[in-house]
Amino acid sequence: MTSPPTYTDRAQMPPRYRDTVEQLMRSQAYRELAAARLFGHGLQFAEEHRYIKFMTWHIREEIDHYFAVANMYERFTGQSLQDWVQARLRERPIPFAGSWFELAMAQFLYDRGGFWQLQEYAECSFLPYRDIIGKIIEEERGHQGLGERIVIEACQSGRYEAEKQPLFERWLRLGLLSFGRPYTESNAYAISVGLKRRDSAEVMRDFIADIRPTVVACGLRFPHPAALQMELPPDLELTP
Ligand SMILES: [Fe+2]
Ligand SMILES: [Fe+2]
Repeated sequence: MTSPPTYTDRAQMPPRYRDTVEQLMRSQAYRELAAARLFGHGLQFAEEHRYIKFMTWHIREEIDHYFAVANMYERFTGQSLQDWVQARLRERPIPFAGSWFELAMAQFLYDRGGFWQLQEYAECSFLPYRDIIGKIIEEERGHQGLGERIVIEACQSGRYEAEKQPLFERWLRLGLLSFGRPYTESNAYAISVGLKRRDSAEVMRDFIADIRPTVVACGLRFPHPAALQMELPPDLELTP
């Protein structure tokens, strides 16, 4: 199979390709700013100095990611993303964490969802996006590990027995939502023109396999797919 053509210049793109690139940048910008708000709000739960430092570093990086994408969008379209992204955040606000434990759960699952999603764009046929994504992926690698360690320790302490399962299910759902709906025509289009590597369904499978050992170590259970109230691929294996 020959690989699809790459683009740098907006004027050379077929209209659907151009629209898809714009939509991609908008939704990523939304997710980056939503993450910065979630972790910004969660700073109040960090008590140890090392965690205060880590959280502020994390928030800063999400803001940098947001501006990297928002500035690229502005260069590409000649329009600011500011009003669109604010309207979107009002329409679809990201839920905030209510405790340090929940914040760690969010870092483990929501942030990790974003990381897996971005990897699908690492070889994107829109070349300027490829450059920016590569840098963001490297930084995202560092975010999720700490949340995961805190979640494992907390679950193994036995102090969160009542809340761990519902919080896990809440953030698992939010993490999975980062991938978009599986098997859509727009997925197929993005793959055919080399914007994206694989269908959302396959990314969801990798994500689930990636978190499975931690889910087991925490004494958590994957919920029945119907309980997640979202569109999932029918063959997604959720049992531990
Ligand atoms: Fe980010
Ligand atoms: Fe992140």
